[in-house]
Formats: sequence, structure tokens, C-alpha cells
Amino acid sequence: MIDNNRLLKPNRKLAKSARIKNMCEYQALQDEAIEDYEGFWGRFAKEKLDWIEPFNNVVDESNFPFVKWFDGGKLNVSSQCIDRHLKDKKNRASIIFEGDRGDKQIITYLELYYNVNRFANLLKEDFGIKKGDRVVIYMPMIPESAYAMLACARIGAIHSIVFGGFSAEALRDRIIDADASLVITADGAYRKGKPYMLKPVVDNALADGSCVKKVLVVERNNEDIDWVSGRDYSYNELIKEKAPTCEPEVMDSEDPLFLLYTSGSTGKPKGVQHNSAGYILWAQMTMEWVFDVKEDDTYWCTADIGWITGHTYIVYGPLAMGATTVMFEGVPTYPDAGRPWKMVEEYKINQFYTAPTAIRVLHKMGEDEPSKYDLSSLKVLGTVGEPIDPPAWKWYYEEVGDSKCAIVDTYWQTETGGHIVSPLPYATPIKPSCATLPLPGIMAEILDTDGDRVEVGEKGLMCVTRPWPSMIRGVWGDKDRFVKSYFGDVKKDGKAVYFTGDGALYDENGYITITGRTDDVINVSGHRMGTAEIESAIKKCDKVAEVAVVGRPHSIKGESIFAYIVMKGDDTLATEVELIKEINGYIKSEIGNIAICDEMAFVSGLPKTRSGKIMRRILRAIAKNEEITQDISTLEDPTVVEKINNIVNG
Ligand code: WTA
Repeated sequence: MIDNNRLLKPNRKLAKSARIKNMCEYQALQDEAIEDYEGFWGRFAKEKLDWIEPFNNVVDESNFPFVKWFDGGKLNVSSQCIDRHLKDKKNRASIIFEGDRGDKQIITYLELYYNVNRFANLLKEDFGIKKGDRVVIYMPMIPESAYAMLACARIGAIHSIVFGGFSAEALRDRIIDADASLVITADGAYRKGKPYMLKPVVDNALADGSCVKKVLVVERNNEDIDWVSGRDYSYNELIKEKAPTCEPEVMDSEDPLFLLYTSGSTGKPKGVQHNSAGYILWAQMTMEWVFDVKEDDTYWCTADIGWITGHTYIVYGPLAMGATTVMFEGVPTYPDAGRPWKMVEEYKINQFYTAPTAIRVLHKMGEDEPSKYDLSSLKVLGTVGEPIDPPAWKWYYEEVGDSKCAIVDTYWQTETGGHIVSPLPYATPIKPSCATLPLPGIMAEILDTDGDRVEVGEKGLMCVTRPWPSMIRGVWGDKDRFVKSYFGDVKKDGKAVYFTGDGALYDENGYITITGRTDDVINVSGHRMGTAEIESAIKKCDKVAEVAVVGRPHSIKGESIFAYIVMKGDDTLATEVELIKEINGYIKSEIGNIAICDEMAFVSGLPKTRSGKIMRRILRAIAKNEEITQDISTLEDPTVVEKINNIVNG
């Protein structure tokens, strides 16, 4: 039996060859960073990266929160991920790909080099893409997606990947915000054995005219698609004639590498900007420290490249360190819930990284599946994206990891670029559902609103008190929003610090447990969504007068989406089933299937203060069927609370 509060010691046998072997080594690194922050980061930047020209300054905070890391340095991220491994790893597998229908590809570093270079030449020669241009990538999980990212990095173009589950509207908004000039997409891909389409979504997104004049289409499933002549080009055709070498663009440390749109507390997603040197440095260092991938290891992260986890821990991190990264198309439960374990056995996977939602589904649908496969190659298991509940953690630890693999509960965000709080697999004693300690070099602290460190057991705000290399550099096109979103809430010793938006608490060991978002962002199956975005999609339905969306705990998804809706006049007479269908139709077209509401309650009014502010805390409590402890006497109409409660829980 696992005691949720007892610390489980790391595997001593495996620790011998680990990069960070014990807590003394962890502490020594953290002390080094505290005593000489610049020395610490400067040392690793020199050790880990291949510089075309050396940097002359480690960090420049004079224009905080607009900071510069490794100023003056020149490098190219695609070279970090490919060229420098050609000397001694050219025949090593860089990417192992397994498609939804079991099709396989093993791509060596040398092949990756040629494929990326050809792609880079294609972007330059056929589309005139140059340094600083924005390229939107709307792709499935196929190797060409990684080539596209690295090809952009090679020529200095800024990629902005839009997750393939987003709708045409959502894609259009992101294209416009980034003022992109090219979209790279595929005809479609496969999911649960069947083809699905992506290109028609791009067609719709560009339908009413766009800054994007050209579309590059990778043919994956060869389904029939519309073709706009003069706009759409076949990758499979064009790539044939391209030269296999392309000189990498010389990039400044602070030249942008990519944008990735993410949800915040307003209706409009933010284009989180990451730059070159600091991002790739931390991507590589966390790969090495947190997963401790070794020369002959095979590492698999099940994320989608449309999210930050796919960027940092499928493509950039593993390739920067010269690892073998597994890329997978499809869903983990198809053809059955043994799929991931079959793959672990077949490829002898050593580190496996996934989301709590996937663990819960695999547990529910295939509790005994792990025992049917040889999982003895596994050394480290990772989780990311949402708090993992103790039952899921226990199953993962005991049944998948055979009680001998460390579970690294990695806490981070799109904005942090890489992990910030996580166990180190061979050093940190772990406990279920706990992200444990800040990684060396990261000054993460839980503070109260006055900027004081909270006491043990007291909930506070998860902050980072010093800039770190892979931190967000800006919100694309909106300096104010960058400052206000992340540096407006908490000050320590009079100086603004980075606030993640998450709540957290310390235990008596000083370990950090993340308790979830403190803002109006909800986390559904590890996908981060702003309630304001969903509300504005619902408001597109002109029968809706008012709406408030909250998260409700869900046994598989972590949180589900719960909408309270006030209809206009007589429209409440339509049947609920029809209304739900109609409203979800708006969500589908504005955002995508991922934001569809699990439940809607049609109510006559929302709980509002006299100044008109919706009291979401009350709505969250009702959705959870909790007792209302808030004072409701200040509400404009206190009787609505009981009315809503009767509808939802009555
Ligand atoms: C949540 C995903 C608890 C958190 C990498 C954060 C977590 C948001 C964990 C970022 C974890 C991420 N434990 N919660 N280990 N990891 N989160 O930007 O609320 O898609 O703010 O990045 O996920 O989501 P994002």
C-alpha cells in the first residue's frame, strides 16, 4: 500500500549512472544558482550549446520584464537539434514514428538533416519565406510536422503551430493575429483506423481572404480534397527537387523561435513568444535532468505537437540532446487500451511521458493491460498538464512502473517553456500527486498576495521570482498584455515577479503541490481553456442572453465544462436537446470539439453583485454540489442562487 504522505526513495541501482544522483547534488546545483545566478546559467549555456559566436552577457534585466538572455550570442536552433549530432550520431534514430494504423518509420539523424534541409529550401525557394516571417503549421502527428518546425528554425522563420483540433474560426484568428504568410497543413491523417481531414478547415479559415496567400499541403491520407490553384501546393511534389543541404540562418540569442497561442482569462488567446537560445538551453537541460535519457535510450512523449509539451518534449528537447524520440499518431486506446504498453515493449521505451487524463483512461479501460506486456525497459514515467489524482498515480507507479520507476510529476506551462517544478528521477524522494521541488536554477516560490512566502499547508500563488532562460518573452503584438498578465499581481520586496496563475501549497518537506488555476482558466483533459473564450463562442448564438462557464471536477478529464445559460425571451420554449445541440454547434465552429460543454443548465438569471459582476465562485460551488458558504446577501437578487441550485442539484 502506498501511503500518500510517505516519501518513496529513488531507485539506487539506476541512480549510479544518473546525471543528478542524489539530493546533495541537487542542492549543490541549486546553491550554485542562488549564489551566482549568472555564473550558473553562463556555465550551462557554454557547456550545452554550440555557439556560432559567443554571448557577451548572461542576462540583461534592465528592461524587466522584457529580459535578454545570452545577448550577443549567435546560434541556430535547428543546428543545435541536428547538425551537431552528425559527428558521432548520424546513424542513430532521431525520430521513431508509429502511425495510427501501425505504419512505422525510423528516421536517423542524417536523414533528419536532409529532410529538414530540403524542407527549408522549399520554404525559401518556392514561398520566399525569410527570417522573421510567421508560418502557421496546422498538422497532424507525422514526422513532416517536426521537419516543418525545424525547417522554420533553420531559416529563421517563426512558426506558430495550431492544434489540429481547433476549428476554422480559431485557426483564422491565430493566422490573423500573427499576420502569417504561409500555412503548412496536411490533407488529413488517421484516427482510430479512419481517415480524418484537416485541409477543409484551412480552406474555411482562408475563405474570406487572408494575409496567407499560399498553402503547403503534405499528402498523408490521400483523401479527396479541394485544391485552389495558385494557392495550394503539394509538398510531396515540390520536395522531390530540393537540395539536401541548406546553410542555417545565423540567429541572435533573442531572435524569436516560435509563437504558441494559449488561453488566458479574456476571450482572445495570447500568442506566447519564445526566443532561441534560452528556450533551447532549458529544453535540453530539463530533458537531461528530468528524464535522464541516456545514449541508447528510447524516449516517448505522447503529447501532440500542437501543445507546448509537443514542442519542448517531443521535438526540441530530445533532439537538442541527441536522443531518440518516439512520435505517435492516433489515440492511446486504439485499437485497444494496451496500445501504449505494446509500443513500450516493441521499442523498448525507457522514458514514458503522458498526461493524467490518458493515465485515467488507460486505467479505466485497461487496468490489467500493462501486465500483458514486457515493460521492464521503463526507467522513468512522467506526467504533465494537470494535477494527477492519487488513484491514477498509484496505478501508474505500481502497474506500469512495477514500483521501481520514478514518477516525475512535471509542473510547467506554455509560458515557462520547460519544466519548472519536478522531481529528479534518481535524486528526489517522491510522493503521489506532488510536483516536489523547483528545478535547479529556477527560483519558484509560493507567495501570498503581499509577496511573502506562505506557511506550510497554506494555499498561495505559484510564482517565479527571477527571470529564467526559457521564460516567455512576450505576447505577440501586445506588450501591455504581457506585463499585465504575468507581472501585475504579485510583488516581492517591491519588485514584480512572474505569477503562473496557479495556486499551490508547501508540505512539511518544503514540497510543492499544485492545486490548480486561480483564474478563469479551466483544464479539460490537460487542455487549457479560458472560460471567457467558451462564453464568447456561446454568445454567438443570438438566442442566448447571458452565459457563465465554470469547470466541474470530472473523473477522467480532470475538469469538465459546465455552462449556465440564460435564454432570451421565448427561446427557452425550444427543447433543451435542440438548444444544447445548437449552442454546441457554435462552440464547435468558434473553437473546436475540445471545448464542447459537457453540461448546460438553463437558468432564469445568474448570481450577480449589485455592480453586475457574476459571482462565479457560487456557480462553481453549485456545479460541485457544495454547500454555499459565501455571503449571498450582497447579490442583486439572492433568490437566484436557490433557483439555480434546484435546477442543477434539485
Ligand atoms: C497545469 C502544459 C498540476 C497548470 C505543460 C498550468 C499542472 C497549466 C501540471 C499549463 C502539473 C501543468 N500538476 N497542474 N504537473 N502541469 N499543469 O500551458 O494549471 O497547456 O498552469 O502547459 O497546466 O498548461 P499549458
